[in-house]
Amino acid sequence: MKQFILPELPYALDGLAPVLSEETLSYHYGKHHAAYINNLNGLIAGTDFENMPIEDIVARADAGPLFNNSAQAYNHTFYWYGMAPAKGGDNTPTDQVNEALKEAFGDFESFKTQFSDIAAKHFGSGWAWLVHNPRDKKLQIIKTANAETPLTQGLDPLIACDVWEHAYYIDYRNKRPDYVSVFIEKMINWDFAEMHLNRARQ
Ligand code: FE2
Repeated sequence: MKQFILPELPYALDGLAPVLSEETLSYHYGKHHAAYINNLNGLIAGTDFENMPIEDIVARADAGPLFNNSAQAYNHTFYWYGMAPAKGGDNTPTDQVNEALKEAFGDFESFKTQFSDIAAKHFGSGWAWLVHNPRDKKLQIIKTANAETPLTQGLDPLIACDVWEHAYYIDYRNKRPDYVSVFIEKMINWDFAEMHLNRARQ
């Protein structure tokens, strides 16, 4: 029987500190993400979902525990890999992503303003995403509630920002806009976004 495993982080638990502390990652990755994976394994055991890729489970699951746990398992992996340790200096997009951002939003600054607005004002738990829309081939910023994911809307995710309180409360308390701001300025792994943009355009 196939079991999903918690994917290894692409950095140490303290690798995103001081922006996101080791304590935050210990809970968020080690407890929350791990729980979604464990729950998913329990839910698919002995069912037709047992040997499916996670994207297919997300696409086929009805609303409820199977969708919530599979989508959250997927979303969190996307979130971790879409961040990288801050290098110092400006964290700017690759040339290719920058071109696509300019086409969609005018310039990088406008993208940052729109992304932070959507992420900071999203009511309740959920996610903010930079996505590629295969219908008009442009980039777009969307928000999803709770475990909802761009996969079910036929959109190609490039970057995920977790805005559940568990993502930022230890480090930023109730100041979600501060967390979103450092996420955009320091944490986004633009190479990861470019890799997914290239995949989406193939
Ligand atoms: Fe989370």
